This record gives sequence, structure tokens and C-alpha cells, in this order.
Amino acid sequence: MSDYILVAVAWPYANSQIHVGNLTGSYLPADIFARYHRLAGNQVAMVSGSDAHGTPVTVRADAEGTTPLEVYQKFHVGFLELFQKLGLTYDLFTSTHTQNHFKVSQDIFLALLKNNYLYTERQKQWYAPTQGRFLPDRYVEGECYICGYSNARGDQCDSCGSLLDATQLINPRSKIDGSTPELRETEHFYLDLGALEPAIVEFLRQRESYFRPNVLRQSLGQIQAEGLHGRAITRDLDWGIPVPVEGWDGKCLYVWFEAVIGYLSATIELARLSSQPDAWHNWWYNPDARAYYFIGKDNIPFHAVIWPGQLIGAGEWFGKLFENLEGKRLTLPYDVPANEFMNLEGKKISGSRNWAVWGLDFLSRYDPDPLRYYLTVNMPETKDTDWDWEDFVRRNNDELVATWGNLANRVLSFAFKNWEGRVPEPGELRPEDHQILESIEAGFQSVAEPLEAVHLRAALGEALRLAAEVNKYLDQAAPWFEIKSDKSAAAKTIYTALRAIDSLKVLFAPFIPFSSERLHHYLGYDAPLFGSQFTETVDDELGSHTVLRYQPAAAKRQWQPSQLPPGQALRQPAPLFKKLEPSVAAEERARLG
Ligand code: MF3
Ligand code: ZN
Repeated sequence: MSDYILVAVAWPYANSQIHVGNLTGSYLPADIFARYHRLAGNQVAMVSGSDAHGTPVTVRADAEGTTPLEVYQKFHVGFLELFQKLGLTYDLFTSTHTQNHFKVSQDIFLALLKNNYLYTERQKQWYAPTQGRFLPDRYVEGECYICGYSNARGDQCDSCGSLLDATQLINPRSKIDGSTPELRETEHFYLDLGALEPAIVEFLRQRESYFRPNVLRQSLGQIQAEGLHGRAITRDLDWGIPVPVEGWDGKCLYVWFEAVIGYLSATIELARLSSQPDAWHNWWYNPDARAYYFIGKDNIPFHAVIWPGQLIGAGEWFGKLFENLEGKRLTLPYDVPANEFMNLEGKKISGSRNWAVWGLDFLSRYDPDPLRYYLTVNMPETKDTDWDWEDFVRRNNDELVATWGNLANRVLSFAFKNWEGRVPEPGELRPEDHQILESIEAGFQSVAEPLEAVHLRAALGEALRLAAEVNKYLDQAAPWFEIKSDKSAAAKTIYTALRAIDSLKVLFAPFIPFSSERLHHYLGYDAPLFGSQFTETVDDELGSHTVLRYQPAAAKRQWQPSQLPPGQALRQPAPLFKKLEPSVAAEERARLG
């Protein structure tokens, strides 16, 4: 029986391009995990979209003298292009600026209201006399009142990670014009996290044994230290989702409140687009479904505390809006494997200072698999890591090319040339042949285990270790000598090696899918390993939005050892990867800053 796996991926703000730090932080690990589960025969919904609302987008529009809609649309298109080029196989990558998302967000809001988890309060908020308007939290910067960091944003401190109460910032200044704001009164809805605290703590306790330490620290740890308090979930802002209550014109749902609801609304949209309108129940109203949230460390409180609170609080009431869901509860996160950050050449990545390796720019010069490879072996799973161009070249050449690419290429070329383009008939295999095949077979367990625990670096390291073993086997058997004296011995070796690389191709496939797909083709298979990506434009009352989708390959469990049939016709092989010149490091460093 197959499992239902929701792969929920952080929604990129549609206000800047995506760089390698964003990719390794959440989008790439999500894709590796999704591809693995599809190969394993599970039912995956990998969903996300552009985070179109809120101040990150309006700040940019103000700065450029354009509209938030234009800003969002421009970056959204860039995301779709990057995700196709890098092979990030979202079942649906949509946007928060859709009629469907507006409706689902408002319904969640109303469900919380019915269940008494919302209350209103008049509060003081920063107001800019120079602009004649209230300043959303993100428009205000100042000193963090917890750690003293001098550039804390109103909503969160990037230094200590705490969620902040913007009104307590020390020496506040407006992000728009640097002026000093003043506090004025306004009314907002609050999410009653205090009332939800016992349920949220219970939720976290149930996951304490396997949540990453950084996630536990910023969820359970934070709650035990400070408790949970109500948080305003509406804003004085006109770009976003209107508060669905009469008399609340001119106010919107807070971007963090509605963006996380995107995981649910996108799954609903996916089901509709696939003409199976109820299919989303399989992930959201199925006690056996598992939901994984791939995010960066700056997103932890919103996903490990507040979003579970929203889901618990909306509770059974939300299900009443649909047929057959009465009395049922929404699926809570199973895991939130948040990553730390990746730096660049020893310094924090900064878009505004062009201290970044941009995804699309990188792919205009290099192939996607070397990027995926380097970002996985260097993934900041437990601590911050560093992108180093010299290290990138070295790992490409010494690991990807030397250990895996050359192995696949020499086995294929040798077979193709000496057995008339076919998989040789091996006859009876020798003990050493059986031995290497058994080692590789064990890889379907030893790579899968860390993959399922979202320890992706370890999983890829294990696949590479197995490739090195096959290299050793091949060097010892030396078929290029065997063939001169005993062609049938060489046939056993090459058959064994072909079967080994046929298996390794699957073990590597979640990480470096483009090369695995090519190898799969060279090995003579017709049906592809993976499905295909495509875009589609959807019209709704808000206008239209273009989405990225994925058409899976024919449902079949591929995560299993090779059954390569002797005699199968091979295809003319070519090297899977390119060696890079050492000069690349200096050239690329010169582009920075
Ligand atoms: N846009 C946010 C960021 O890039 C992430 C939002 S994840 C969401 O940091 F689920 F809240 F949308
Ligand atoms: Zn701080």
C-alpha cells in the first residue's frame, strides 16, 4: 500500500530572485524528498507558490515606483523558469494571489472566529506622520529588545530569531524614508495562541523524539521559556486578502497568517486542476498521511508553532464546509526539517550587495545536476555551511565526475563497443560478482533510511560510497584485460557492472535526476524514470495566474534493485558530467560584490 506524503515547501517572497541559499535551505531538499517518495511508489503532493502579499512585496513596489501586482508577477515568472531548469518537481507551484487561496484563507479565519480563537483588540501601532499611514511591522526597523541587535525588523529579529512585538523596538525608524514613527491606536484581530498553547505543546511533545534540535529550540523551548501570547493577524494594508468581516475595509489578513494556509489551498487547487476535486482529502483528512514542511530556520516559529495552532484552532469547523468531512480534523505537520543558512565565500549572502549566486544566472553557465549535487553535499542540515567556488569545482571533478560519472561512462562505453551494443549474457556469476551486487542491493535500504529521516547529506554520501565500491570491483576484475584472454569472464564483469550502475542510477536519482534519466536511457529503457513538468494558465476572478505542474511517470515502484535483462539493446552513451577548469573559481569570484 502506498503512503500519502505532503511535501510542503516554503513559499518564496515574490520580491527578489532565488539564490543558492534559498535553494539549499528548502526548495531542493523538498524536491529530493518528493522524488524519492515517488520512486518508492508513494502518493506525493509537493505544493507551494509565490508569497505575493505583504510588505516584502509592497516595499519593493514603493522603491521601484510600480505596483505590488507587477512586482509579484515579474518574480513569479522567474521562479517558474528556475524550477523547471533545476527540475524542482512541484505537483503545483501556484501563488497566494488567487481566488481559491483568498477563499480558503478567509474560511480558515472564519473557522477560528467561530471556534473563539480570535479576539479583537485596539493596539498602538507605528504610524508615519511623513506618509500619513500606519507602518506594518516590516516597515519598521530598530534595536531588538531581546538581544540588542541593531537591525531587527518589526516582526522578527534575524540575529536571535525571536518573534518581536514591533512596538517594543528600541529607536525605531521607518524603512521607507528613515523617519521616526509615532505610536497611534488601531484595531486588529488576534489569534489566541494562549488558549491554543496546551494543544500546541502536546503536538510538539508527540514529535520531540525526532524534530531537529534547532526546530525544538525555537518551538517547545521558546514556549517553555516565555509561554504563548495572542498575535495580531490583521494589518492596516490594502495589498492582500481582505478581512472577511463587515466594517473591516482597508485591512488585510497578515501575510504570515495567510501564506501558510497556502499549503492547504494549493492542495485543493491541485486536486481541482487534476479533475479529482476531492483528492486533497487524501493528504489533509487522512490520519495516515504525513506532512513534511521544508523551510529555512527563519521560518521555524511560523511553521512549528503558529501554523499548527491555526490548524488545531480551525478544527472541525473547517471540515463542515465540505461534504463528508464533518467532524474531521486537518492533518498536522509530521516533521518540519528546517535547515540553517548557507553563506557564500565566508560571508552572509546578500542580494542587495550582489553577494549571491543566483539560481538562473548559475544555470546559464552550468548544468543543473552539479548544482544539485554541491547543494546537497553542502546542505546546512545541522549548522550553517559555506558555498566556496573552489570547493564546488573540486567536488564536481573529484566526486561527481571521477567517482560516479566516469564509472557509468566506462562501463557503458566498454559494453557498447565490445558486445554489439547489447547487455552481455553473463552465464553463471562468480562469488565476487554476487558480492558487489549484494552490497548495491543493500543500498536500497541504507540510502532510503537517511532519506526518509530527511538526512539528505548522509543519504547522498552513502550512494557515493557504493559507487566507489563498484569502482574498486571494476579495477580488480579489470575487464579490459580479461577480454583479451577470456571474453566470457569479461562478460560476467561487465554484466555485473551494468547491473550495479543500473541500481546506482536509482539511488542517485532523487539527488541528480537529469543524469540518472540519461543513464536510464543509455541503458536501453524506453519508459522514463520521472514524469514531466509543464506550465498552465488558470483564470479566476482575480485575473489569471500561471502555475507550474508535474505529470508523474506511470505509477510503478522504481526504488528497487536492477533486473537488467541480458541482451537488452543499449544506446550510444556519452559522459554524464563535465569536468570544470580550475580557473572557474577565480572567474566566478570576480562576479561577486
Ligand atoms: N515567504 C517566506 C520566506 O521566503 C516563506 C513563507 S512560507 C509560508 O521566508 F508558508 F509562510 F508561505
Ligand atoms: Zn534579537
